[in-house]
Parts: sequence; C-alpha cells; structure tokens
Amino acid sequence: MALLEVKDMTHYFGGLRAVYNYNLSIEKGEIRGLIGPNGAGKTTIFNLITGIYRPSEGSITLDGENIVGLQPYQIAAKGIGRTFQNLQLWRHMSVLDHVKLAQYAKIRYGLVGAFFGTPLRHRQEQEIEDRALELLELVGIRHLADQVVTNLPYGAQRRVEMARALATDPKILFLDEPTVGMNPEELKDMMEIIRQVHQELGLAIFLIEHRMKVVMDLCERIQTLVFGEVVAEGTPDEIRNNPVVIEAYLGKEIET
Ligand SMILES: Nc1ncnc2c1ncn2[C@@H]1O[C@H](COP(=O)(O)OP(=O)(O)OP(=O)(O)O)[C@@H](O)[C@H]1O
Ligand SMILES: [Mg+2]
Repeated sequence: MALLEVKDMTHYFGGLRAVYNYNLSIEKGEIRGLIGPNGAGKTTIFNLITGIYRPSEGSITLDGENIVGLQPYQIAAKGIGRTFQNLQLWRHMSVLDHVKLAQYAKIRYGLVGAFFGTPLRHRQEQEIEDRALELLELVGIRHLADQVVTNLPYGAQRRVEMARALATDPKILFLDEPTVGMNPEELKDMMEIIRQVHQELGLAIFLIEHRMKVVMDLCERIQTLVFGEVVAEGTPDEIRNNPVVIEAYLGKEIET
C-alpha cells in the first residue's frame, strides 16, 4: 500500500478548473517532483491534499486512511508536513519558538498540568526544546535559535520553515518551491539540507520546483502539470527528453 494515494482528483474555483483528474501514489521514503508553468495548479494540489481546500471530486488516502474533509491541522497531525511558496513565519518570534510551537499539536499534559506546572509538563517542555534544537541543527541554523525571524537572511528563514514543518514528525514533507528567490550559495545549501533531511529522517518528500536542476538532481520521479493536468510523468531522464515537457517550457528552462 502506498503511503499517499490521490485518485481522480479534480478541483474547480468557481468556473475555473484548476486541477483535473489528478493521480498520485507516493511510497515511504520516496522523493517526488511536481513541475509545470506558472498557474498550472501545483500549489493548488498541495492545498487540496493538505486540507486547505476540499477537492470537488476524488479521493486522498494517507496510509490507507481517507483524509478528505479533515482540517489542515488534523492532516498535519496525521503525518503531512509542509512549507509554503511565500514564507509564512511570524516576523517577531524567535527561531526556536517557531519550532517549539509546531510541536504543541502533539502535547499531552492538558490544561490542568499547564496551570499547575506539573513535573510531567516540565519534562515535556524539555523534550520539546531538545527536539526543536535537534531539528535546527539538522537544517544548519541551531546557532540562530534565539534570533527573531525578521533579523535573518532569506535563506535562513526558509530553513526555519523547514524545521517547523519537521517538528510535527511528518511521514511525508511537502516543499513548495523551497529554493525560490535564493542566490546560488543558498540554493546549494538548501539542496544539501533536503538530501540530509531525507536521509536522516527517512521520510518521503513531495517537491514543487521551478529550477530544473534542483528537481532533476533530487527526485526519483517527476510529474509535469499543464493547465491542471498531468501531461508527463517519469524519471528525470524521461522528463528531460519528453517533447510535451519541452514544449510546455518552450525548451528554455530544461537546461538550467
Ligand atoms: N483560492 C483561489 N481562488 C481562485 N482561483 C485560484 C485560487 N488559488 C489558485 N487559483 C487559480 O488556480 C490556478 C492554479 O494556481 P496555483 O497557484 O495552483 O498555480 P501554481 O502551479 O502553483 O503556479 P506558480 O508556479 O505561479 O506558483 C491559477 O489560475 C490560479 O489563479
Ligand atoms: Mg505555486
């Protein structure tokens, strides 16, 4: 059984058909890519699977269990973590607090414990902080734990989002254009981090990416979306040489 399975998913925004008859099957530990021109429907697919929108048609299962109709926080708790195309961080909150806060979804001590400060609460607080620091280490920004986000360079802010997405212990991580707006140095670092996260945590990754080099280097299989429909699916080599893909990109971006 696949970890994540999407069948015949279609979505309309009013009269606009944003996603049509979309199918996806991701196995544990696999790295998948999703490419396509601006407005093709890539982010909408992420938003449909993560519960921000409810698909007009189709089914989505995680570990065989239906997740259509669940709230985004419930889907996150079941094992889908994500980052956003446009950073969604609290500018004046510290790096460490971002990653700690994300873990409270799992916390058990409840209101009474929180109020009276029980030993269980203290132990859990410590565990949460330790885990947050571990994740910051993994994405290479542990030394920035006490900084507020607004003081950080862009590449580091992207890493905060990544650590926060990992804080819920996902089985699969969705990354929406994680290298957008990065300089070559930041880009190289981010690719290394994605590789490391994949290796160390053994999770599956579903990646939307505009830069062909990134998607080709990282992904085992890639889907190409045009006007909401998958027009090509295959290995990086199959995608690189597919005439339909080359046409969709006017032959330009494929080489970059
Ligand atoms: N909430 C919404 N309401 C109405 N239309 C929407 C909404 N979200 C997205 N769309 C439309 O759906 C289509 C797909 O948008 P989407 O953001 O999924 O594309 P994308 O492939 O992620 O593009 P990009 O590469 O620019 O990020 C676009 O035509 C967009 O304008
Ligand atoms: Mg998008």
